[in-house]
Amino acid sequence: MNENQASKANLKSSNVVWSDTSITKDRRDDLNQQRSAIVWFTGLSGSGKTTIANALEQRLHKNTFRTYLLDGDNVRHGLSNDLGFSDNDRTENIRRIGEVSKLFIDAGVIVLATFISPFINDRKFVRNIVNQTEFIEIYIKCPLQLCENRDVKGLYKKARTGEIKHFTGIDSPYEAPENPELTIDTSKLSIDEAVDEIISYLIKNAYISVNRKQRITQLLLGCFSSKKSPA
Ligand code: ADX
Repeated sequence: MNENQASKANLKSSNVVWSDTSITKDRRDDLNQQRSAIVWFTGLSGSGKTTIANALEQRLHKNTFRTYLLDGDNVRHGLSNDLGFSDNDRTENIRRIGEVSKLFIDAGVIVLATFISPFINDRKFVRNIVNQTEFIEIYIKCPLQLCENRDVKGLYKKARTGEIKHFTGIDSPYEAPENPELTIDTSKLSIDEAVDEIISYLIKNAYISVNRKQRITQLLLGCFSSKKSPA
């Protein structure tokens, strides 16, 4: 956030003043040799968001990129443990995650966020609090019937019998993205193919670079050679 963005923030108190820091996001991005952003996975429960994000994070981590995975079920064990699944609670959940993700971006990290995030307006909120290129919306598309057949957590069964109320796709709506950066159809693609597609997008749009390791080595060598040379 810069001073300009800070002045537009929705503040309850007018007596708080934004302080700029000397180490900026750009400097952290330079150090990390990557461009931080939120890779936002949205889709039905059981569509494959967490599975794909996990595989993507492993691939990025192995290649020395700085990442963090924020997952719906996990965040609801802590930061959002006071929230349920009413429309208002889901909106508040996504607002919190959006703000946390923004801090991670500022820290120079590539955030992988996996939330059903069923409402277009809530996802728009997150898109709007970061810079234009910092929000990459990935629609994890999968027919409800297939998610229900997979029923990895046994929750669809409970939703059908009425044991769980307001379950997305059953008695709570899901609004599919109208213009996502990427759509991954998990009824057609394997996990590896899905990860390949996302990695290609990240490379094509310069969030990550295939030359990263080489560039870091060059920086290191530069540092050693300057020590060697006489003053
Ligand atoms: S969101 O709607 O607020 O974005 P979030 O991604 O945090 O949802 O949490 C979804 C996860 O909570 C699901 O993957 C599922 O495991 C669990 N869950 C429990 N109850 C519900 C429900 N009523 N609707 C959807 N998911 C639920």
